Amino acid sequence: MEGPKSILAIIILFFCLLSGRAGTGIILGTASNATIGINYGQVGDNLPSPQRVARLLRSINIIKKVKLYDANREVLEAFANTGIEFVVGLSNEYVGNMTDQAAAVEWVKENVQGYLPGTNITCIAVGNEVFTGNDTALMANLVPAMQNIHSALVSLGLQGSVNVTTAHSSGVLSTSYPPSAGAFKPELTAFLRPLLDFLSQTSSSFLINAYPYFAYKADPDNIPLDYVLFQPNAGMVDAATNLHYGNMLHAQIDSVYSALSALGYPALEVKVSETGWPSKGDSDEVGATPENARIYNSNLLQLLAQNQGTPMRPSLRLETYVFALFNEDQKPGQTSERNYGLFKSDGSPAYDVGLHGSLSGGSSNTNSYNKVVVSSLCSFFLLFFL
Ligand SMILES: *[C@@H]1O[C@H](CO)[C@@H](O)[C@H](O)[C@H]1NC(C)=O
Ligand SMILES: *[C@@H]1O[C@H](CO)[C@@H](O)[C@H](O)[C@H]1NC(C)=O
Ligand SMILES: *[C@@H]1O[C@H](CO)[C@@H](O)[C@H](O)[C@H]1NC(C)=O
Ligand SMILES: *[C@@H]1O[C@H](CO)[C@@H](O)[C@H](O)[C@H]1NC(C)=O
Ligand SMILES: *[C@@H]1O[C@H](CO)[C@@H](O)[C@H](O)[C@H]1NC(C)=O
Repeated sequence: MEGPKSILAIIILFFCLLSGRAGTGIILGTASNATIGINYGQVGDNLPSPQRVARLLRSINIIKKVKLYDANREVLEAFANTGIEFVVGLSNEYVGNMTDQAAAVEWVKENVQGYLPGTNITCIAVGNEVFTGNDTALMANLVPAMQNIHSALVSLGLQGSVNVTTAHSSGVLSTSYPPSAGAFKPELTAFLRPLLDFLSQTSSSFLINAYPYFAYKADPDNIPLDYVLFQPNAGMVDAATNLHYGNMLHAQIDSVYSALSALGYPALEVKVSETGWPSKGDSDEVGATPENARIYNSNLLQLLAQNQGTPMRPSLRLETYVFALFNEDQKPGQTSERNYGLFKSDGSPAYDVGLHGSLSGGSSNTNSYNKVVVSSLCSFFLLFFL
């Protein structure tokens, strides 16, 4: 070990011991049985190896679910026997191929069955945001591809242990406010009905990528920042249901429940396949700051740790995948696109999620949660430096 590194490690270790002693003791892993998911995107040329990432996530043991955009072999092998559950992705470019049943069987054998049971793949997300793209052939192929993937699972005896679904952009909605008025774009109904039938028949769930950040960025003068960041605020009451909303994410998800009910599918479960906040953006990307990202993500993690549902589905805990694990330097688009990570590409935290407790006057729940985060970050640093 090099000199400067070992000195750094000792300083970190000292800090960790101190922070652990500041309260009633480190409660690593016992403060909550919440299962927080995270998106592990890999559009970067400088990311840590999957082996190191597996160690990182095991040390942050509140993250028990990982969502991939593909079925990367190195990742799925590195996470064998970690107890972490996986959603694997079948990217849009391969959706068309899956309209051939034999190809679907081959894909499932190679990308799912081959890793079971060591790596616990519980879901296949076929395509991403297909219905808000402009490729109508892809839109038409999506449900047939999902049906073939499901049939492949049946033929391999994996139905029931692996769900098949697809993730949507919130652009599938024409109305999202107030939540009770939520509705899908009428022009998508012809594509959505067969999809929703499929999800109902196979007991799968509806995935939505939900970003209060975009709503805030579009109208920062009228949308209260505290409402989108889960900070204390008056919230809003939906006059049609009399339900109170304390944050925008819950309102967005309930607008999806309303849209599903309006088409006749009130029993489908909605899961958040992506939500997050960028820590950096271009000058026109209002709100993309490290401070807002820290507050959004630390408040989000605390909310998830309480296993709550939304006002319309209070007893159904809102399953959520945070976007994203790492900043991804090769992503195209505006600066924000490359800066959603909880961690920088070198593996160091992008900001202190919960280290300083973003909720002032936190409850005991907040405190123990923060200790989990402190100790997780400490184990992380030690892993990387020692
Ligand atoms: C764990 O989950 C159960 C069931 O959801 C809940 O009743 C219990 O309060 C949770 N425990 C903690 C420590 O969060
Ligand atoms: C899958 O589709 C892509 C086009 O998206 C094509 O290039 C490729 O050859 C197809 N693979 C198979 C095995 O058919
Ligand atoms: C995989 O995850 C599911 C859902 O949490 C769980 O029921 C199952 O026991 C896990 N399987 C393995 C092999 O760990
Ligand atoms: C469709 O969208 C893609 C990416 O969003 C874009 O590159 C392409 O030019 C679009 N094609 C048409 C015909 O609009
Ligand atoms: C499949 O999705 C349903 C509905 O969300 C859920 O209850 C079930 O646990 C999921 N199964 C697996 C294996 O993840």
